[in-house]
Amino acid sequence: MSKYITVINGRFLDEKDASISVLDHGFLFGDSIYEVVRTVKGKLFGADRHLQRLHASAEGLGLRLPLMDSQFLDLMREMHQRKPDSESYLRVIVTRGVGELDLHPASCNAPTVIGIAKPLPQWPAEAYAKGCKVIVADLRRNPKNATNPAIKSGNYLNNVLAIVEARAQNAVEAIMLNVQGNVSECTTSNVFLVRNGELHTPDLGEGLLSGITRGYVLELARRLNIKCAERAITREELLGADEVFITSTTRDIMPVALIGDARVKHSPGPVTMRLMEGMKQVLADAANLS
Ligand SMILES: Cc1ncc(COP(=O)(O)O)c(C=O)c1O
Repeated sequence: MSKYITVINGRFLDEKDASISVLDHGFLFGDSIYEVVRTVKGKLFGADRHLQRLHASAEGLGLRLPLMDSQFLDLMREMHQRKPDSESYLRVIVTRGVGELDLHPASCNAPTVIGIAKPLPQWPAEAYAKGCKVIVADLRRNPKNATNPAIKSGNYLNNVLAIVEARAQNAVEAIMLNVQGNVSECTTSNVFLVRNGELHTPDLGEGLLSGITRGYVLELARRLNIKCAERAITREELLGADEVFITSTTRDIMPVALIGDARVKHSPGPVTMRLMEGMKQVLADAANLS
């Protein structure tokens, strides 16, 4: 049985038959956008927020979304229903579509909508109990006046190179600095630090994706009366933090124990643990909503 559920322009296909044209600009130029939604007890989690971000990404590239939101939701639900035994990782990609072998998208008449689902990856329990290792990559995040990291595009080469750097050092993630030398985000997650009981995370102006999980964490912090600042953060501040954690749809909140060779003071620390508990509750509540 195939590992993946695959669908192209509404047609569910066997993984081995799920191919797109070599002239699709998504393939040729990374001219595409995407979202990854997870299920909780078989229900889509935060799908409205993901769709809002998909619209923002489409606008950022001047790409017309060929489906209505209700159709995207139906598509994701069906992807999960085809393999409902475990929680799903649901990726929806919209590419510029098939066109001429030319950078300009004018020849692309119809966007391609691709869905790929797999079981939600399970991170080792130890990563949550003791924290994971990350590095600060040498490679910088592309600046927001280039391909803006706020757009969740399929153009991930910068992040590919950074994760290669991380894995070569046995780290699960790479924290990337922006061209000013401040912390931006990781290759597929956002980053937070705690200092003197207060939460800090780079503000969106630093050039990063407005992570859906980041948004949930900021809301949680407010509810739990944990002071939180979105602002510019230097590498030195990060390395001197009391607690550090990363967030993403597939990881939720994962504490960081090591940044390169430097040990973070507490992993997981008390604030991180409160937020991890809070996030568990947010997920449980979402699962209980009918
Ligand atoms: C570059 C980048 N930053 C942050 C995130 C985390 O975002 P979310 O919490 O929406 O999964 C992702 C997710 O894939 C990402 O690709």
